[in-house]
Amino acid sequence: MQKFGVILAAGEGTRMKSTLPKVCHPLLSKPLILWAVDAVIEAGVSKPSVVLGAHADIVQKTLEDRPVDIVLQHERKGTGHALQVALKERAFKEGVLLVMYGDTPLVQAQTLASLANIIERGEAKGAVVTFSPDTADGYGRVILAEDGKIQAIVEDKDCSEQERKQYTICNAGIYAFDIQTLLSYIDKLDNNNAAGEFYITDIVSLFKAGGERFVAHHVACAEEVLGINSQAQLADAWRIAQARINNHLMAAGVTIPAPELVWVGPDVQVSPGAFLLPMTFLFGKTCVGENTTIGPNAELIDSTIGADCFVSHNTRLTRVVAKDRCSIDETVALDATLECEASAGPRAYLRPGTHLLSHAKAGTHVELKNTTVGEHSAVPHLSYIGDTEMGAYTNIGAGSITCNYNGREKNKTRIGDDCFIGSNTMMVAPVEIGDGVVTGAGSVITENVPDAALGLGRARQTNKLGYRKKSGLPYKSKQAKHR
Ligand code: UD1
Ligand code: CA
Repeated sequence: MQKFGVILAAGEGTRMKSTLPKVCHPLLSKPLILWAVDAVIEAGVSKPSVVLGAHADIVQKTLEDRPVDIVLQHERKGTGHALQVALKERAFKEGVLLVMYGDTPLVQAQTLASLANIIERGEAKGAVVTFSPDTADGYGRVILAEDGKIQAIVEDKDCSEQERKQYTICNAGIYAFDIQTLLSYIDKLDNNNAAGEFYITDIVSLFKAGGERFVAHHVACAEEVLGINSQAQLADAWRIAQARINNHLMAAGVTIPAPELVWVGPDVQVSPGAFLLPMTFLFGKTCVGENTTIGPNAELIDSTIGADCFVSHNTRLTRVVAKDRCSIDETVALDATLECEASAGPRAYLRPGTHLLSHAKAGTHVELKNTTVGEHSAVPHLSYIGDTEMGAYTNIGAGSITCNYNGREKNKTRIGDDCFIGSNTMMVAPVEIGDGVVTGAGSVITENVPDAALGLGRARQTNKLGYRKKSGLPYKSKQAKHR
């Protein structure tokens, strides 16, 4: 049977009291809606349909790189209406349909697959995930018949005091249907209820009344199906997801001495033997290699770090690739690449297009942009190097700067192999410095320097003898000579 999926996410999310659409709120830095979409895809649906309404444009942008079909529910008349709109728009004919809400991020693909399997095996025409939460407030209650089989789902708002107490099993909002059967009942939903909405949950009693088999699939772990309607529930989900992921990593051989102080997103990979120190945040599609230490205080987004690296103290990396045995300390880097055994920091700022080749170094208070630092070359202290190609075994003296911008355009600097750039050299681009060049400290280099030459561009020093006395400037120290 072919498997399809619909994710309902058209609601206002008013209980979040936020300007951001509910399903765009981040959970371990990944928007809620993407957790749901990825789980449905992992469960075997190649292109899920997502029903959007309120703030559809913003949510659609969040879904940009996922293979989904967007369905618009222009008027929000309830979860049942949202499903009706999706069924009309997509014109499904037969197969299994998985339906879930966009605000239930912790659901495992395995649970979805098991639910679909009930339909695939022909055990029932409909199935719903149920659970027993600590507090059932707000959840639809599952009404069981005397034989223990599911009879109906009644929304919290529509329950009597008595029913609220009596029925503690709740609806998780995850369903699987035989599509043909669903199509013959979906238009029978009505809105005679406390909210005046078309509830998807009423499908259960409709199936039952029609003599169709509908079963409950109870999950033991209530945390898995936590629905997020409020900021407090979102915080609960962060804690649950954090514990789940960190426990999983520790079981696989990652050392996390203070797991409550480490956040790792669901799409991050960490190899065994890695150390994640307190206040480490790994998000997006970050990968960390074997025996690499991250933190304390490091945030890595969509970055790949090789084996045996140190990424320490106050470091923030976005889309950085660092190969094996690199060391990155107190560094901010964006779209940068470090080859094996390169190092950055403390306090380096690597801007887009920075490429440190093997054993290259960007040291303290160094800013690099669109620059390649050759093998074994170093920019150790207090420099800005931009739009530059640098050869191997070259050293840039402290305080040196490439003057790459003339107020109109950016210009390139080329520095060869084995150069010794004196401290505080200004390289006024465009300029080419050959191999084996030395520049005098404090030089302003405006012309190309040929191979193996000394580039000297500064005023010659003159000493005016006896100047101090003539100037009348008093001495302060008693033992001052040359009075
Ligand atoms: C819903 C269920 C409840 C269940 C709970 C589980 C119904 C009527 N109630 O309640 O039984 O226990 O989830 O978490 O289904 N949506 C639309 N279009 C609409 C209305 C809602 O797409 O017109 C979407 C929302 O964006 C949301 C989802 O449907 O993602 C569920 O809506 P929500 O208002 O959160 O329902 P709950 O009150 O949580
Ligand atoms: Ca909800």
